[in-house]
Amino acid sequence: ARVAVLMGGPSSEREVSLSSGRGCAAALREAGYEVIEVDAGPDLAERLRAIAPDVAFNALHGRWGEDGCVQGLLEWLRIPYTHSGVLASALAMDKTRAKEVLRAAGLPVAAGVMASAAEVRTRHVLPPPYVVKPNNEGSSVGVYIVHDAANAPPALSADMPDMVMVEAYAPGRELTVTVMGDRALCVTDIVTEGWYDYDAKYRPGGSHHVLPADLPADITAACLDMALRAHRALGCGGLSRTDFRWDAPRGLDGLVVLELNTQPGMTPTSLSPEQAAHCGIGFPELVRWMVEDARC
Ligand code: DAL
Ligand code: MG
Repeated sequence: ARVAVLMGGPSSEREVSLSSGRGCAAALREAGYEVIEVDAGPDLAERLRAIAPDVAFNALHGRWGEDGCVQGLLEWLRIPYTHSGVLASALAMDKTRAKEVLRAAGLPVAAGVMASAAEVRTRHVLPPPYVVKPNNEGSSVGVYIVHDAANAPPALSADMPDMVMVEAYAPGRELTVTVMGDRALCVTDIVTEGWYDYDAKYRPGGSHHVLPADLPADITAACLDMALRAHRALGCGGLSRTDFRWDAPRGLDGLVVLELNTQPGMTPTSLSPEQAAHCGIGFPELVRWMVEDARC
């Protein structure tokens, strides 16, 4: 079968996507597919029509690639594609609305509000500690943490959107779970020196991954269960990854779902391929499963 690997694109996670895409393309070739690498630009529809792939492997991250836009185009072109569909993608990319759905499904999420960037720059919108994030970015792009009330409100950069999400800071360990269809793979504990920012995510050695995480059995079980429930509540397909914080002294009450990623990173330092490998699923086998699972 012919597979077009969509990568790059205009989002702030372009470089991450190029890395994900190249890795997936290599693994797909190893798995025996004919692979065409496509840097997603404004001519994407024409290029896909010309290539006429059997499947589009979506290796895009961030806006336009993870938020339902490219999924809508692929539906329109009747090309089966990997990962989640239009609605789940759009919903998960909107962090505030996604949290409302997760909360309604009984999952623990951090309290948060939308506020104007102008207001956030001038006063503490929530009692510190709190986090300020764009409502629709990934890879920790544009994330600010305000630790205590003595700190000034955050000096958000000029390119932050007009409205931003302000969320109570969830302390504790950073945990993550990949879901592959109807199966939650395992829990990784992400150990970093500071917080898990863009550099820690993608610089080799920037973070240390413990998998399976060394956790009490009830916490492991809760993470696996919540990741599956989050995947289903948002209506996701294929692969997704749900990120958590766990404040150990508070036991099960200290577990919070931070977010679900419908286009989890597939780079050499990324978490999902590593979890799959831990479960005995190598990279070529993982991408083969994703292609076979593709639909529109
Ligand atoms: N947004 C990055 C790619 C991730 O969630 O892995
Ligand atoms: Mg994310």
